[in-house]
Order: sequence, then C-alpha cells, then structure tokens
Amino acid sequence: MSTRPFRLILLILLLLSVVPACGPAQRTAPDTPAESTPLPAYRAHWLPREHGPLFSTSGACASCHAGLVDEAGNDVSIDANWRSAIMANASRDPYWQATVRSEVLDHPELRSVIEDKCATCHTPMARFSAAASDGESDLLDGGFLDVDHPDHAFAIDGVSCALCHQVEKEGLGEPESFSGGFSIDTERPRGWRLAYGPFPPAQGPGEVMRGSSGYRPVEGSQTGQSELCASCHTLYTPYVGEDGEVAGTFPEQVPYLEWQHSDHQGTSDCQDCHMPPADGAVRIASSGGGPPRSPFAQHRFIGGNVHVLKMLWAFGQEFDVTASSEHFEQKIEQTLEQLQTNTAELSVREASVTGSQLRFDVDVASKTGHKFPTGFPARRAWLHVVVEDAAGDVVFESGAVNADGSIVGNDNDADPAAYEPHYRQITSADQVQIYEPILEDVSGEVTTALLRAQGYRKDNRLLPSGFDKTTAGADFAVYGAATADDDFRAAGDTVSYRIDLSGSSGPFTVTVELLYQSIGYRWAENLRGQDAAEIDRFIDAYDALDNLPVVVAESSVSVEP
Ligand code: HEC
Ligand code: HEC
Ligand code: HEC
Ligand code: HEC
Ligand code: HEC
Repeated sequence: MSTRPFRLILLILLLLSVVPACGPAQRTAPDTPAESTPLPAYRAHWLPREHGPLFSTSGACASCHAGLVDEAGNDVSIDANWRSAIMANASRDPYWQATVRSEVLDHPELRSVIEDKCATCHTPMARFSAAASDGESDLLDGGFLDVDHPDHAFAIDGVSCALCHQVEKEGLGEPESFSGGFSIDTERPRGWRLAYGPFPPAQGPGEVMRGSSGYRPVEGSQTGQSELCASCHTLYTPYVGEDGEVAGTFPEQVPYLEWQHSDHQGTSDCQDCHMPPADGAVRIASSGGGPPRSPFAQHRFIGGNVHVLKMLWAFGQEFDVTASSEHFEQKIEQTLEQLQTNTAELSVREASVTGSQLRFDVDVASKTGHKFPTGFPARRAWLHVVVEDAAGDVVFESGAVNADGSIVGNDNDADPAAYEPHYRQITSADQVQIYEPILEDVSGEVTTALLRAQGYRKDNRLLPSGFDKTTAGADFAVYGAATADDDFRAAGDTVSYRIDLSGSSGPFTVTVELLYQSIGYRWAENLRGQDAAEIDRFIDAYDALDNLPVVVAESSVSVEP
C-alpha cells in the first residue's frame, strides 16, 4: 500500500491528540475531534449482502433494522451504532492484522494453528463455516483477508448480526463455550434458520423477516446474558514451550471471569453497560414491524479503544470501512464520555508539608464491571502527578507522557525486559504507578508476544467492586506486589506520595490525573521493524496518529506549608 495518504492525513491528525504532548501545562480537558479538526469526511458504504448456508452478512439484516427512532427522537438504528464499533471492524483492525502476522513470523511451523485461532473471534462467520465443513481457515496470503477469497465478505463483516443472533443457549457459560466455543446450528437450511432476540415476536412481522432474509426471529433469553459475550471475551491462548511445541494455555483476556467474581454479577450484565437501553420503546424494524418494544438495547458496544477507532476513521478508505466519518466521530465521543464519566474517579487526601517533605495520598476508585483496564493486555492506565510551587514551576512530576506515547520513568518503555513494579508509596520521579498486566514467557522473560506468554509477572489492574483478591482463581487473580498491598482492594487503590521538596517554597499545588492508553508503547514498539506488509501498514497508521492517553479522571489540591 502507498504511504502517501497516510502522510497527507498526518498533518490534519497531529491536531487530533486527545491530550496535548508532554509538559507541565498538559492538564487541559481533551478536545473532541469535532471541535478542533477538519477530519476526512466520507459517507457510509453499502454493507455486504451475501447469503451462505449458515450466515448472511450485515447488509441482509441492516435495511429493516435501520431508521429506528426512540421516544426522545434519537436515531437508534442498529446498523448505524454497530458499523463503527470495533467489533464490526474486528477483521479490518490494522493492529490485529499486524499481530497475526507477527505471531506467524515468530512461529512459522504453527502457522495454521495460529491463523485458525485468530480467525475464531475476529472473522467468526467465515471461520465457523469453514470449521463446519472441515475447510481451511487461513487468514493471510490468500486466506480470508484476501479480497479474492470466496468467504472474504463474511470474514470482513467481523462480529456481525447473524453471528451473535444465532448463538444457541446450550453450553453458554461452560468452559467449553470460552475461547470462541459458542454453538450455532448447522442443520437448519436457509429459510428456516432462527435469529434469537429478547422479545416474543409477533407472528406476522416475523414472516416479513423470514421472507426477506431467510431467518425467523424467535425469543432467546441468552441474548440478555453475559454468557453470550463471555464466549469470545474469555480467551485462553496457547503458548509455546522451549521445544517450540504448544505447552499449555494462558488466560489472555478474562473480563467475564473478573465480572463473575465482582458484585456486578446479579446486578448488571455486560449488555446493561455496553448496550444501554434507548429512551422509551422503539419499533425494532422499519418495515412490517410489531409494536414498539422496550427495553430496546442500543448496539453501541463502547469500550476504551479510542486509538484504533481513530485509525479506522483516518484511513477509512484504505481499510475499506463501511461506517461514515460521522459514525466514527460519534463513537469516539461516546467512548471518551464513557471513559471520563463511567470509568474511575480520583481524590487527593491528607495533603500536608512536614519540614521539607510533601505528603499526600491518592485514592483511585474504579466503576467498571471488570478490572480496569480489562481485555487485551496492551491496555494500561496510570497516575500522572504534578506538584507546582508558589511560582507555578513544576517541582515534582511522575507519570508524564512523552510525545511518542511512552511514559517518563517507566522502565518497560525504556527497556523491553524491565517493568515498573506496583507501588504502595512513591518517593521519586522515576517511580510511576501503572495499572497493567506484564506477561512472562516460559523462561521468565517479559514478553508482549501472545504465543509466548505463559503467566502474569504483574497484574495490578484496578479491581471491580466486590472483588475479593484473596479468593480469586488463578486465571483472574492479582499478581506481583499488589497482592500484598492491603489498600489495593475491591474498586480501588491508595498510593502514598512522600516527596522531598527542600529548596522549594509553597503553597504547593498537587494535580493528579488517571490516564488510559489502549496500545501501550512497548506493545507497538515490539512490532516495529518486522518485515511484512500488515505490520508496515499498522506502524504507518500508528506513527501518523498521536498515541497520547485519555484523561479518565483528575483531581487537584492546594497545600499550605
Ligand atoms: C476468543 C476470542 C478471540 C480469539 C480466539 C482471538 N482474539 Fe484477539 N481479541 C478478542 C477480543 C474480545 C478483543 C478485544 C478486547 C479489548 O478491546 O480489550 C481482542 C483484541 C485483540 C487485539 C487488540 C486489537 C486492538 O484494536 O487494540 C489484538 C492485537 C488481537 N486481539 C490479536 C489476536 C491474535 C493475534 C489472535 C490469534 C492468536 C487473537 N487475537 C485471537 C478476542 C479474540
Ligand atoms: C455482539 C453481538 C451482537 C451483534 C454483532 C449484533 N447484535 Fe443485535 N442484539 C444483541 C444482543 C445481546 C441483544 C439483546 C440485548 C438485551 O436483551 O439486553 C440484541 C438485540 C437486537 C434486536 C432487538 C432490539 C434491541 O436492540 O433490543 C435486534 C432487532 C437486533 N439485535 C438486530 C441486530 C442487527 C440487525 C445487527 C447487525 C447490524 C445486530 N443485531 C448485531 C447482540 C448483537
Ligand atoms: C425484511 C425486513 C427484515 C430483514 C431483512 C431482517 N429483519 Fe429482523 N426483524 C424484522 C421484523 C419485522 C421483526 C419483528 C419485529 C417485531 O416483532 O417487533 C424482526 C425482528 C428481529 C429480531 C428480534 C427477535 C426477537 O424476538 O426479539 C432480531 C434479533 C432480528 N430481527 C435480527 C435480524 C437479523 C440477524 C437479520 C439478518 C440475518 C434480520 N433481522 C433481517 C424485519 C427484518
Ligand atoms: C458496570 C458497567 C460494566 C459492566 C457490567 C461491564 N462493563 Fe465492560 N466496560 C465498562 C466501562 C466503563 C469500560 C471502559 C473502561 C475500560 O476500558 O475498561 C468497559 C470496557 C470494556 C472493554 C474494553 C476494554 C479495553 O480497554 O479494551 C471490554 C472488552 C469490555 N468492557 C467487556 C465487557 C464484558 C465482556 C462484560 C461482561 C462480562 C462487561 N464488559 C461488563 C463498564 C462495564
Ligand atoms: C464472536 C465473538 C464475540 C462475541 C460473541 C462478542 N464479542 Fe465483543 N469483541 C470481539 C472481538 C474480536 C473484539 C475486538 C475487536 C478488535 O479490537 O479488533 C471485541 C471487542 C469488544 C469491545 C471493545 C470495544 C473497545 O472499543 O475497546 C466491547 C466493549 C465488546 N466487544 C463488547 C461485547 C459485548 C457486550 C458482547 C455480548 C453482547 C460481545 N462483545 C460479544 C468478539 C466478540
């Protein structure tokens, strides 16, 4: 691919940073892209409309489930919400494609095992169909990702309507259903296939859908349950031992197990937070529909991955997205809003100056339904602390971000073999409290390679409310120094700062931010330099955009000496 479009858009996108680059004055609220920049504008594309024996692509569903409006007049069209979600773009995702290639380069002898694994959740319709007919599920070099592959349209449609809505209730929540082990009927012919949903369907309207799409809507309580999401969001990855053979599996992503061990289980399912209800009742089909239905679940699927959404938007043409620039703009706004209002809070307590020492405690409170961050292990959150003296000069700073997205003082960003421990107390500027997983391979080395990770050296991601770390199973436990830190607890952590400020004069201003980044610096750097088209394409997009964090929460106090 030509890199010219990337460079062109670079200029525009330099303005798009979520927080301004390093420096003491970086505590301004992030601009929403819409306010500050003329981003590439384009329209939505037609969704693919293909029918296979087991699945149809989104274009076969969206037409009737578009043009939907709630009682407050909001457009709640299902396709419009879904198109720009990362799940709809799970196979276009340049970071995913680069990682698949990197894993294959690392273990060429396991190539088909790796590609089949990665296809399971990122191109689930194409992979499930291939598996059902004993076919191949290659991704690269003429596989599903190749536009000429006969199943390309199914692969590129990502986690699509006909996938989620055909998952059978049977076995959900059982360990066999994890790692993409959902079950879908392989017997019913097209015309008689079932699409499960939350409502008892009206007979007449249901026939309208069957006549046009070949699927009959039926009530299936599984659509309202976390166990549906758990089938892909509980991911065990095989890892390779010293002999190059698969030696076991590693719990790479377990938000469902984290949620199960929290008190959100029983009060809110994944859907409650990630598919929030529309305002009042909604007619769920634009033509031939039944009565208005309530609650109507919006297909927002918002997480925290602002960075990859920006890539998809900026390079929409290259990545052949179907969403419009407006769809992405809205998704990014909603993601920032979720990060800034529903994710975490901060407070600074007990601030005092004793002699030349400034002391204060930072309380972090998490509000998510699982660890924060959760999911893919490249995610990280950290505390950025700035102390200014009476003249407004910075006299202490921990956790500043460099223009390249690395964290000042983070050993892992400086050296791939090292990392920051979990801290109870911070006394110097090169100590940074980073909430993150650090993975290790079979010989105990720190790694970001998925098929090399066999355990967690560190996992101090913030726990959800109700999570008892002393009874947590090994697959979702806390690892490293946080296990012994009493105030690293359900829904929060307290970090004490003890700073020597001899020579400075107060009153001092302490400002603390909780920052979040979806692609930690080390994760991208470790891909750099590997020679392959998918990796070049990702690195070009990554370099064209700032990898600056989102400010999730902020707090500030003034301290009199
Ligand atoms: C069981 C389902 C499943 C399988 C199998 C799977 N993934 Fe994923 N993957 C996910 C989910 C879910 C996420 C998103 C989690 C999040 O956003 O935190 C994800 C995210 C990612 C990301 C981060 C993407 C981004 O935009 O930040 C990469 C990279 C990735 N996967 C690579 C792989 C590779 C390589 C394989 C094969 C070795 C693979 N995945 C297999 C479910 C799966
Ligand atoms: C990741 C899985 C997933 C995908 C992809 C998905 N849905 Fe859904 N959908 C659900 C779940 C879960 C519910 C029910 C949520 C609840 O009951 O809380 C639902 C509900 C619905 C409903 C009932 C009305 C409502 O929103 O409550 C319709 C109609 C529907 N989906 C159609 C679609 C169409 C059309 C697409 C593709 C453009 C699609 N879905 C993509 C999971 C999915
Ligand atoms: C010709 C229009 C049309 C097409 C095309 C269509 N649907 Fe529907 N869909 C409907 C109608 C009408 C209903 C019933 C509305 C009601 O009962 O209120 C419905 C209901 C649903 C429901 C709710 C089921 C329930 O009982 O809760 C789901 C889920 C759904 N459709 C998914 C899909 C999927 C997936 C596709 C593509 C494979 C699709 N639809 C294609 C018109 C359509
Ligand atoms: C109480 C509300 C709540 C519940 C319940 C909840 N989540 Fe989340 N989730 C959030 C919030 C807020 C975020 C954004 C912060 C973040 O990235 O962790 C999020 C983020 C995510 C992400 C993206 C993480 C990342 O940074 O890449 C995934 C994946 C996810 N949730 C999956 C799930 C699954 C699966 C379930 C059910 C087992 C679930 N969530 C239940 C609130 C919730
Ligand atoms: C067929 C597998 C599959 C199912 C079922 C599934 N997901 Fe996902 N989900 C994925 C994959 C794959 C990704 C990551 C795509 C990427 O980053 O490239 C993802 C990403 C996400 C994200 C992260 C978005 C972000 O911006 O960080 C959220 C939130 C999410 N899913 C919620 C859900 C919820 C809620 C359900 C259940 C209603 C669900 N998913 C069911 C495969 C699935």
